[in-house]
Amino acid sequence: MLYDTLIRNALVIDGSDTPGYRADVAIRGGRIERIGELHEARAREEIDAAGRVLAPGFIDVHTHDDTVVIRQPQMLPKLSQGVTTVIVGNCGISASPVSLRGDPPDPMNLLGTAQAFAYPRFADYRDAVEAATPAVNVAALVGHTALRSNHMDDLLRTASVGEITVMRQQLRESLEDGALGLSTGLAYANAFCAATDEVMQLSEELAAFGAVYTTHLRSEFEPVLEAMDEAFQIGRHAQSPVIISHLKCAGAGNWGRSPQVLAALESAAQNHPVGCDCYPYAASSSTLDLKQVTDAHRITITWSTPHPHMGGRDLTDIAAGWGVSLLEAARRLQPAGAVYYGMDESDVRRILAHPLSMVGSDGLPEDPFPHPRLWGAFPRVLGHFSRDVGLFPLHTAVHKMTGLSAARFGLKDRGEIREGHWADLVLFNPKTVRDVADFNTPQRAAEGIDGVWVNGVLSYREGRANGKREGRFLAREGDLRRGFQSTE
Ligand code: ZN
Ligand code: CU
Repeated sequence: MLYDTLIRNALVIDGSDTPGYRADVAIRGGRIERIGELHEARAREEIDAAGRVLAPGFIDVHTHDDTVVIRQPQMLPKLSQGVTTVIVGNCGISASPVSLRGDPPDPMNLLGTAQAFAYPRFADYRDAVEAATPAVNVAALVGHTALRSNHMDDLLRTASVGEITVMRQQLRESLEDGALGLSTGLAYANAFCAATDEVMQLSEELAAFGAVYTTHLRSEFEPVLEAMDEAFQIGRHAQSPVIISHLKCAGAGNWGRSPQVLAALESAAQNHPVGCDCYPYAASSSTLDLKQVTDAHRITITWSTPHPHMGGRDLTDIAAGWGVSLLEAARRLQPAGAVYYGMDESDVRRILAHPLSMVGSDGLPEDPFPHPRLWGAFPRVLGHFSRDVGLFPLHTAVHKMTGLSAARFGLKDRGEIREGHWADLVLFNPKTVRDVADFNTPQRAAEGIDGVWVNGVLSYREGRANGKREGRFLAREGDLRRGFQSTE
């Protein structure tokens, strides 16, 4: 038997949240064909993986890679971390279905300028991803703000009956063409005026497809529990799973409340499929939001259209230099991007460690001075939080970025190392794996990632992409509610 690839002597951490075991793994035709002691077997390419961990390729469940997977399909920030699948369309913003009448409304501008939005139907986006063949697999949500922007002349109000009808049609058509579900970003001004009822009516389209509802909550600050209640109310009404995006306790007045927030999540989970994702940092990042300007914690500017040279500088320094208030400085910088150092480390750790949480980077690939999560989120969980801090065992870290994520989003035959599954794999050194990107030098590839296979093809090896791009578009398969059973 001649295989395509044999990875010998690896410590296999299979994604199921169980400790690793030593085995050889044989790949053929894009899939894992055998796992075991394969001494007699031969392959065109054989790799000795002694001292290395072989894990399922990481699934980045929270990304804004919608247009970058097409425009920069090598996807180095993700591939270099061991990520083999990205889920796009989070936080209410998606590249499709979108028909712009001018510049993309905030925060859709995080996905690119107007030219990047060339997909009036979800099927157009799917075709474009397939034509681009990015280095990683892509699955997509439909953004609520994107639907609003298509059909409403004024985003600072709730939608009319007629507008809801056409948004529903567009959502339904997207779900028919393979969208995973609906995302909202209710905290952002351009969605904040949407009444709960608007979202509930849209969400009625989800159940027939077994699709998911993901949400950047209406508030991550003091009213976070009320915002979670709203999310669960929508999910129950829709009979759809709820994934809370980048769950956190934001703002100094909210620090220390993670036990309450997690208790609310657990209690909802008792009679409804719910979960969350989070990124492993105590700072957030998005467009510069005047409502979030404060002197209670540090804020740095990552980009500014009128003042591009301010990228990387503190808002307090900029304001002092101009002799104006923080708020006035922020006004002058807009449109702009920011990093907000607005979380407490103990809250971040408690949420990350919770069994209902998955890892998602929330990286912003368009940002010229991005939050380091874009290049570092996954190795940071493996190296810093699992190995160095001891927050959870390595197999639990891997589970939160593979098996759990694939189950929640119904990614069939992915997320675990099993015979018959697609060979999305990452080989890493558990002693050295670490994130190198930080807030000062945010665009640096992780260390300790030795090999990344996407659909059976080695695409990244020893610190370099080799130009292979084997990613596919992953359309929704089956009923996502099933992926929430048999868990806590
Ligand atoms: Zn968000
Ligand atoms: Cu996001």
